[in-house]
Amino acid sequence: MTLNVSYMGTKRQLADQVADVIALSADGPLLDLFAGMCAVGSAVAPDRNVWCNDVQWFASTVARSFFTSDGRPLDRETCEELLEEPFEENRDALIQRFRAHLNRENEALTAASVQRFRASDAAMPNCGTSLYFDKERRRLTTNKCEFPYRLFSITYAGGYFGLQQAIDIDSIRYAIDTRLKTRQITTEQHRWLLIGLCQAASKVANTTGHFAQYLKVKSTNIRRLARQRERSIYGEWLACIEEMKPLGTKRWRQGNEVTKSDAVKLLKEMAKKEGKLPAVIYADPPYTDDQYSRYYHLYETLILYDYPESKGMGRYRPDRFVSLFSSKQSVEKEMKLLVEGVAHLGSDIVISYPGNGLLSDTKNTLRQLIKSSYNHCNIIEIDHRHSSLGASKGVQKHSVTEMLFRGYN
Ligand SMILES: C[S@@+](CC[C@H](N)C(=O)[O-])C[C@H]1O[C@@H](n2cnc3c(N)ncnc32)[C@H](O)[C@@H]1O
Repeated sequence: MTLNVSYMGTKRQLADQVADVIALSADGPLLDLFAGMCAVGSAVAPDRNVWCNDVQWFASTVARSFFTSDGRPLDRETCEELLEEPFEENRDALIQRFRAHLNRENEALTAASVQRFRASDAAMPNCGTSLYFDKERRRLTTNKCEFPYRLFSITYAGGYFGLQQAIDIDSIRYAIDTRLKTRQITTEQHRWLLIGLCQAASKVANTTGHFAQYLKVKSTNIRRLARQRERSIYGEWLACIEEMKPLGTKRWRQGNEVTKSDAVKLLKEMAKKEGKLPAVIYADPPYTDDQYSRYYHLYETLILYDYPESKGMGRYRPDRFVSLFSSKQSVEKEMKLLVEGVAHLGSDIVISYPGNGLLSDTKNTLRQLIKSSYNHCNIIEIDHRHSSLGASKGVQKHSVTEMLFRGYN
């Protein structure tokens, strides 16, 4: 198990069954091409080495921490000792600057009135709607380390988070960057603290589990939203850090690898390079037209901390990756390139795909594709409850038949 966040299409519930199928392949590394939260890699560990790939910064950073770190994150006491001072320094500066906004936010939370909640949210610093804050944001894109850190405060307050929560996220990010710069923590420790901050943000965010949009306050949810807004980012973050630990042994992790690449591109690059190849490649591509980069943009921004433009109601960053697996027009061609690319490396292939995904006539289409490149194709069908986390179809959980395809020679 890696980071404890909701993730669309995760195979957490199916991971052991997928791992059993992967175990049928010869010894050698597993490459998890669309690793997400690495449910399958975690189930395979430590039987064989696991190489993780995902095109998103968030997923690949999570994989790097859990699969390749030398050791655990810093313990809670050391964290507090090292980080409290820079955290407070950034926080005080932002509290001073946004004192009037914070007072308004507190009053709205205490009043528990929908109207005041909405009015307070609408009045928050927001570079997506205010020319003044957008000008400031643009200037900061070339000066990302300017004190005080304030990306979340001027981008997401009054939406995914309250202003105090946004200030605390900025201040934790400032604290860990400061200690990295002064070499009081290593790059690896910084990475653990950063993904812990992603998990903490997911716990307090005002969402259904993803960042395509935030929940609008209504009389029916005001109590719950107010409680969410009162949760402490700092407390959640310290709790996350205590929970996290790398998978397997240090020796095992030294044989693991992580890449952040488009899957088909990665296969082409691997074919050109000399060196060890995976014995088996697991592919769990997106299967709906929901782009992961839209649902998880906020984690990308928390990792990159690059003051991106904020677009639309979801406050999206504009440079989001568009996956060809998430388009009806391109999915079949992309699948063909994927299967051929894996076969070309001489690795077995295991693919997960649900019966109701974008690829039409999934069972026959994938069987044909695999049979054109491999001598054998086995198919296992599993009844499964998928989590769509209230994505575009609005359904929380629905039963589907998940198919596992195994191609081998
Ligand atoms: C269905 S999820 C994988 C879930 C994962 N198996 C798990 O259990 O958490 C698909 C993943 O593919 C990634 N992705 C989408 N298009 C990609 C591409 N072209 N190349 C590599 N990764 C891609 C997404 O970022 C997402 O994390």
